[in-house]
Amino acid sequence: MAEEKAEIVICMGSSCFSRGNKQSLNIIKGYLRERGLEERVVFRGSHCFGECDKGPVLMIGGSKHTEVTPGKIADLLDSYFFG
Ligand code: FES
Repeated sequence: MAEEKAEIVICMGSSCFSRGNKQSLNIIKGYLRERGLEERVVFRGSHCFGECDKGPVLMIGGSKHTEVTPGKIADLLDSYFFG
């Protein structure tokens, strides 16, 4: 059986997108590419999660993270992938 892939879902709703997820999208892509993780991860965008007041919103491996500014991305991904 194939290894289950980790899933990262970034909110592409207009509020999150304009408040940081536009940059975070590229930061995440670069992070996965630089560490050779692209094959292990499904990375996709989503419509608004309905929590714009707590945005930008990002889901990593089923856990929802709120107020994820671009500067927090590397730390969040580091702790998810490398503990
Ligand atoms: S736009 Fe992201 S939660 Fe609404």
